[in-house]
Amino acid sequence: MQAIARLCCLMLLPLAGLAEAEPGRELAARQGIAYPAVIAHRGASFDAPESTAAAYVLARELGADYLELDLQRSKEGVLVAVHDNDLQRTSDVAERFPERKDSPVNAFTLAELKSLDAGSWFNQAYPERARPGFKGLQILTLDEVMDIAEGDAQKRPGLYIETKVPSLFPGIEADLNARLQARGWLEQPGRVVLQSFDRNSLALLHKHMPQVPKVLLLWIGKGSIEPASTQSFAQSGETDKAAFYARQQPRSRAEFERWLDYAKAAGAIGTGPSAALSAGGAQSYADLVQPWMNQLSHDKGLLVHVYTVDEDVDFAKVMAAGVDGIFTNRSGRLLQYFSRPAVLSEAQILEAQGF
Ligand code: G3P
Ligand code: CA
Repeated sequence: MQAIARLCCLMLLPLAGLAEAEPGRELAARQGIAYPAVIAHRGASFDAPESTAAAYVLARELGADYLELDLQRSKEGVLVAVHDNDLQRTSDVAERFPERKDSPVNAFTLAELKSLDAGSWFNQAYPERARPGFKGLQILTLDEVMDIAEGDAQKRPGLYIETKVPSLFPGIEADLNARLQARGWLEQPGRVVLQSFDRNSLALLHKHMPQVPKVLLLWIGKGSIEPASTQSFAQSGETDKAAFYARQQPRSRAEFERWLDYAKAAGAIGTGPSAALSAGGAQSYADLVQPWMNQLSHDKGLLVHVYTVDEDVDFAKVMAAGVDGIFTNRSGRLLQYFSRPAVLSEAQILEAQGF
């Protein structure tokens, strides 16, 4: 009998070892969240204009686990997917509404937002990835992103929704709850993950949707983790912002831990820390996924979903450091890295989908 028990223990050892090596796997399973999670940042936004139908359909067809979006609200109260605080970078607002070009999203009615071209800027910025089908793409409502997520019976990505500048949109957490409820999106555990840099907004999301997994986004700077050095980018004399960010460290281990505790207090099941990217660039920030940070997060029962990583060298680095999921502009590349490659290339999918 003892021999049999020992044999069982020996057989279980590799599994126990795996659980230790991947502490986030069980945490993710408990929440119904894929592990490791492939989160399509503003859709497949390397290959198509961010937050448009092309980007979200492409991410869905590639097989991403989640479509990520930044939630804002039109003048009359319709929820829309827009990242920036204004519309200048990703639309023709400066030509269409020059007097309001730097106004926030809620200065525009839905009809006005819908009249903007949210695709042509991409063709100009990235001529090597430009496509005629991107011209005239529209800003999407939350409902339209849900329609896309539901649009292929074989591929059913979830939504990973960020309340963006929530102070501009009082009540947006309740509005979001109402839309998700109305569409039956809250019935399946882990189909929606909610995220915010703003812990007050996160707490409000928790109040309205206590059962839905939530993630507190982390970075080093105002309103988040305090840095070890108080020298600003301007004071540093640095010209490369990514290089400046890469040198930033939390003021202390206790300061980092304080933010994990804020996350838990606001009802979060995980954090979304920034990453420093090997090649730098506009989406490279402080390295907040150092092994000790991820271990501390796991010790507190928190998942770690890092933003925003696009290259194999960085996928390898953050996975080795212990993260549980990755926000990426390149879902196809990350899925390939995780040995879940799509059958068709990005260009083939876009062609087949009419873009
Ligand atoms: O939501 C995760 C990541 O998207 C946070 O950064 O600025 O791209 O929304 P941002
Ligand atoms: Ca976001």
